[in-house]
Amino acid sequence: MCGIVAYVGPKDAAPILLEGLQRLEYRGYDSAGVVVSNRGLKMRKVKGRVADLAAVVPARFKGTLGIGHTRWATHGAPSDVNAHPHLSADERIAVVHNGIIENADELRAKLEADGAVFLSETDTEVLAHLIARTVEDAESLAEAVRAALKRVVGTYGVAVIDAQRPGEVVVARNGSPIVLGIGEKEMFAASDVAALVRYTRQVVHLEDGELAVLKADGFNTFSSDARETAKEPLTVDWEAGHYDTGGYEHYLLKEISEQPETVARTLRGRLDDRFHIAHLGGLNMDARESRSFRRVKIIGCGSAYYSGQIGAQLIEELARIPSDAEPASEFRYRSPVVEPDTLYVAISQSGETYDTLAAVQELKRKGGRVLGIVNTVGSAIAREVDGGVYLHAGPEVSVASTKAFTSTAVAFALLALHLGRVRDLSPADGRRVVQGLRALPGQIEEILTLEPRIKELAGKYADSPSMMFVGRVRGYPVAREGAQKLKEVSYVHAEAYPASELKHGPLALIGPEMPTVAIVPDDELLDKNLTTLGEIRARGGRVLMVGHREADPRLADDCLVVPRNEIELDPILLSIPLQLFAYHAAVALGRDVDKPRNLAKSVTVE
Ligand code: G6P
Repeated sequence: MCGIVAYVGPKDAAPILLEGLQRLEYRGYDSAGVVVSNRGLKMRKVKGRVADLAAVVPARFKGTLGIGHTRWATHGAPSDVNAHPHLSADERIAVVHNGIIENADELRAKLEADGAVFLSETDTEVLAHLIARTVEDAESLAEAVRAALKRVVGTYGVAVIDAQRPGEVVVARNGSPIVLGIGEKEMFAASDVAALVRYTRQVVHLEDGELAVLKADGFNTFSSDARETAKEPLTVDWEAGHYDTGGYEHYLLKEISEQPETVARTLRGRLDDRFHIAHLGGLNMDARESRSFRRVKIIGCGSAYYSGQIGAQLIEELARIPSDAEPASEFRYRSPVVEPDTLYVAISQSGETYDTLAAVQELKRKGGRVLGIVNTVGSAIAREVDGGVYLHAGPEVSVASTKAFTSTAVAFALLALHLGRVRDLSPADGRRVVQGLRALPGQIEEILTLEPRIKELAGKYADSPSMMFVGRVRGYPVAREGAQKLKEVSYVHAEAYPASELKHGPLALIGPEMPTVAIVPDDELLDKNLTTLGEIRARGGRVLMVGHREADPRLADDCLVVPRNEIELDPILLSIPLQLFAYHAAVALGRDVDKPRNLAKSVTVE
């Protein structure tokens, strides 16, 4: 949520900042701005995309130090004036900020009473004014920034420059990510390594409360009480090429198409054919501990939450441990009872979603044992948890999650296999699951060949004002994620219901204008699901069935047949046609597929 980039070194800053902002656009894309220092500050900022900003940055926008920002509005509508950076009145200090300053109104009133004139409606502008007031007498810019941040309540990742100290950038973190990039006689900082990997693979993650001073020849980090901290750089293995569209028209299609490979990567080195178990070294738990849990509670937001529902089902079925999933955003606010014999699992592609991070921190405060299922190595949630499973799915750029969703479900299958095999899951069932998991990448390839047919169906149904998605038990999270994908990228209203609940209310909505996508695997609930289809058709509803066999034309208008795996793993495969369906519906409707309106990928505000 909001992307920050900073540069100091021998090169021109503006092209590096703009390139970095482009990489961070998934975090917010309603306005963007840059400022460089060169005998005074030069700034350009606009409502719109980074490309709109690039168009107004003149060729002679020289300066070897600068900061940039791409915004997802919280305080004040998207506009040129509300875009970051924000300057102090004397144009000496420039600030970019990601997060929310909760006491901004109070600070603003005090500053205004003292003569300050504000130009924007943002919470961020107070920081520029606060820093400018102390910078003259402060020993360093860092000291002035620290003093200002002491007065702030809320979350931030910030980058600050001072026109009178043209050799340094100060960055600080509290709740919103800041990563430093270490170059050759140059330093970078950004909200995410995505903006850095083109220039360096050596990174340092700031912890909450830390501040860093960047100069061309190096950096220093400090704790909130100004003590210097020692940080070991980490080498990231994601490459610049991973962030390109790779010849696809959209990142979303690229990421859907990558799934045979990304699922294979999540599985790599983790399946054992001898004992039919999963090797998950990162769990940091021995067999005895793994046996000790009596419940599993899974938390995550958005698609992560829906993949958690698939996970809960897998753990309950394979390990026979009562399991459920809940939105992390709800969990953290309801003062949850935290029990020692419950295993908590937090899911996050980005590892930075604030609601999920806050839920993990609440759990840790109460002594809960928390595992993370995370894609981004070194991210805040990955660092906070007691152990976990990395997805190794590579960077996910499109705002709507696809490959991280399937890899999370696969990681849960591994966790369920592990927990099952230290309990009562038989070697024979273990073998069945291991073989099923090994078959997934090839079967995903097969599903991807259905794309032309799915495109045709998406075109057929995309002009519906609303769609219903139904599934029973294992199929229900699939239906929820299918509805979520359609809503996110095509803006077509979609409801997801357990097929069993349809007759208890939502059937009233069904008619020719509200088609249903029905998830109908060949499991023990097949007959029940077919009955539901009959009930929908009897009310004039159109049905697109996604399952394992062609349906009786009396029960479904259209049918998508996907390969069958083990019944526990089928939800993973059944999700994939729905991703393609949402993608092609969005394209047919002319939507901004990778950056849907109002959304952002990494939601680092509450
Ligand atoms: C946002 C995105 C969703 C995503 C969710 C969780 O709401 O729009 O697509 O599923 O955050 O993100 P995470 O990075 O924690 O998996």
